[in-house]
Amino acid sequence: MASSSSCAWCLVVLAVAMAAAAAPSSPAAADPTDGFTAVRLGERNFQLQWPYDVKNSSRYSFDGTVRRLWVFSDDKPHTPRSKTKPRTEIRMTVRALVAS
Ligand SMILES: *[C@@H]1O[C@H](CO)[C@@H](O)[C@H](O)[C@H]1NC(C)=O
Repeated sequence: MASSSSCAWCLVVLAVAMAAAAAPSSPAAADPTDGFTAVRLGERNFQLQWPYDVKNSSRYSFDGTVRRLWVFSDDKPHTPRSKTKPRTEIRMTVRALVAS
């Protein structure tokens, strides 16, 4: 029984190996951007959330190219009533695109 089940296992491994070998390589591989539409984002699409008891400049900077965010383990949430853990984050709001 043990040998027949391990043989079946070998066949599965062989079948997977053959399928991998037969799989098309890069030229025919699907473009990972297929199905996506590029959208231009502006500042209105970025909504910063930072601990409510500090200035956002102590947790966020933007030099025009790179956005940097900091969070400390003892940070407060973004509102006094929020139950979230410490965090500084950017919510990205993008209007839903409907396929035409
Ligand atoms: C940071 O806070 C200032 C003052 O409250 C506000 O005017 C500014 O829009 C905030 N920046 C971001 C990226 O949310």
